[in-house]
Amino acid sequence: MEKLKELIKKQGIVVSEQILNVDSFLNHQVDVELMKEIGEEFANYFGGKNITKVVTIESSGIAPAAMTALNLKVPLLTLKKKKPNTMNEEFIQTTVKSFTKGNEYQLTASKKYIKEEDHILFIDDFLANGDSALGAIRLIEEQKAKLEGIGIVIEKSFGPGRSKLEQKGYDIYSLARIKKLETFGTILFCE
Ligand code: G4P
Repeated sequence: MEKLKELIKKQGIVVSEQILNVDSFLNHQVDVELMKEIGEEFANYFGGKNITKVVTIESSGIAPAAMTALNLKVPLLTLKKKKPNTMNEEFIQTTVKSFTKGNEYQLTASKKYIKEEDHILFIDDFLANGDSALGAIRLIEEQKAKLEGIGIVIEKSFGPGRSKLEQKGYDIYSLARIKKLETFGTILFCE
């Protein structure tokens, strides 16, 4: 998606060869016009798959996922990183280790919101190591729902995430694929 790539080039800050800061439009402040277009793009790509629900992980996945759900006219389910005190019904959990942040969390969902008959589209802001996406997939598949696709706003293609997911045969659509982050600030995209 050209507009996204231009914004990454203009506003993205290379923190290190591993980390890109996009706080100005995705992770802290949110460019809602861009999110609207992202939602349309994902909805166009995955539109033929009879999606019944969009699933994301709190918090930065919510904006692009909500816009996608709006376009597909389906609900959005946000997976929690710990069980809220208000979640009293039956729930499922899986442990996710964040490679980037070096922490661990319990990805949590109420059972009643993921059903066997669901056709799910998973949307997230970043794909790096792929562990959070794989955690979400574990919950989805534990409930016997079908994962129809994975939509990623920014993929760090130098990380192992895509190949881990491709090995499992999922349809992955990333709007911007970064080949390399250079310490002096250059951001290189995949062709
Ligand atoms: P994975 O999602 O591919 O497995 O990667 P990992 O566990 O390593 O990433 C953990 C968190 O770090 C996620 O956010 C992910 O979006 C974010 N992240 C990974 N690489 C980058 C990067 O280069 N830049 C930025 N800005 N974020 C990155 P999170 O902890 O879920 O945070 P949030 O959604 O609450 O903002």
